[in-house]
Amino acid sequence: MPQAVKDIPVLNVEKIREDFPVLHQQVNGHPLVYLDNGASSQMPVQVAERLDHYHRYEHANVHRGIHTLSQKATDAYEAARPKVAAFINAAEEHEIIYTTGTTDSINLVANSFGLTHFSEGDEVILSEMEHHANIVPWQMVAEKTGAVIKVIPVTDSGELDLEAYKKLLTPRTKMVAVVHVSNALGTVNPVKEITDLAHEAGSVVLIDGAQAVPHQKVDVQEIGADFYAFSAHKMFGPTGFGILYGRKSLLDGMPPYRGGGDMIDKVTFEETTYNVPPFRFEAGTPPIAASIGLSEAIDYIGRVGMDQIEKYEAKLVEYAVEKLRKIDGLRFIGEAEERASVISFVFDHIHASDIGTILDKKGIAVRTGHHCAQPILRRFGVPATTRASFAFYNREDDVDRLVEGIEYAKSFFE
Ligand code: ALA
Repeated sequence: MPQAVKDIPVLNVEKIREDFPVLHQQVNGHPLVYLDNGASSQMPVQVAERLDHYHRYEHANVHRGIHTLSQKATDAYEAARPKVAAFINAAEEHEIIYTTGTTDSINLVANSFGLTHFSEGDEVILSEMEHHANIVPWQMVAEKTGAVIKVIPVTDSGELDLEAYKKLLTPRTKMVAVVHVSNALGTVNPVKEITDLAHEAGSVVLIDGAQAVPHQKVDVQEIGADFYAFSAHKMFGPTGFGILYGRKSLLDGMPPYRGGGDMIDKVTFEETTYNVPPFRFEAGTPPIAASIGLSEAIDYIGRVGMDQIEKYEAKLVEYAVEKLRKIDGLRFIGEAEERASVISFVFDHIHASDIGTILDKKGIAVRTGHHCAQPILRRFGVPATTRASFAFYNREDDVDRLVEGIEYAKSFFE
């Protein structure tokens, strides 16, 4: 039985912050306030030390060596697979493909699945709030196959227009690819409902979960998604590594995306046969250390507790929204009812990059710009926003510093 929210123990943020040395530094003469977790989260010492230990004492190539060190490295590298499977409740570990990140995961599906399943006039449904990583790969494949891209519109509050989505679904829909949590708006999309509707129409579904997995429990079986993509570096792990979850029955029928070592069964100059999934999709020497780092990051998240993280961040975001709302002239871009740890805002007469630059002078790190999601910013008629994105090591004090910093930035333009 799920725990009632009131029964979930409170997360001890000060204790957690001790694990993140990066947070305890001065930037431009001020204690750092790190609010750019949507771009990349920070790494706890436990993950950094695990990586260090691997590099000092355990490194060897994987899947290739008969020697003991290689076998140890292989075991540590492969240990992430069941861990990730449990983390997102995949039915089995061979549904977990190692990639270099969310972008790579989506490109894999677009090329392997898309190129073999789409033909002229088939339809791919995306949403107006997608990151470029969930737009451009599909456009590239559509160009090659003659498939057509259709787009779910977004309402003024930053939610997907589900009625419009239902009308877009047709017997020609071959893929619905949508984001779980928008990196530009913070909207949490109803991915289960979106998936169910797509399946009723006979389509396959891919969910971009990059901004979801660090903040909430994800259960791919409950969502029912066929593919789910995310990155290690947004969930307190290393850069250059990510995951593609794929439903086994689909992966089995998919051709490789990249060729090279480890993804083959037998190679001759006349013919090459391929390894089984997930190895079929993992050509070449992989980011071994990064996989081991992700394992450690998952353990760390587990010790903090995803229920605690969700509850803590929900309160923190609520606090931030209330404080920011009081700033004269500040306009939120995205005010969905269901939102996660991203808050985007603009001022009519101050450019986001000016706000970001002045905040940085005060030691406050935010992201400004189009957040690699130009279509959704165009939808809201703005070229750029300032985005504060939170993690469980942020505190109300960080929000107060952000508010003070924004007021200070505004004073230059009054
Ligand atoms: N996709 C990352 C962001 O939203 C880089 O900032």
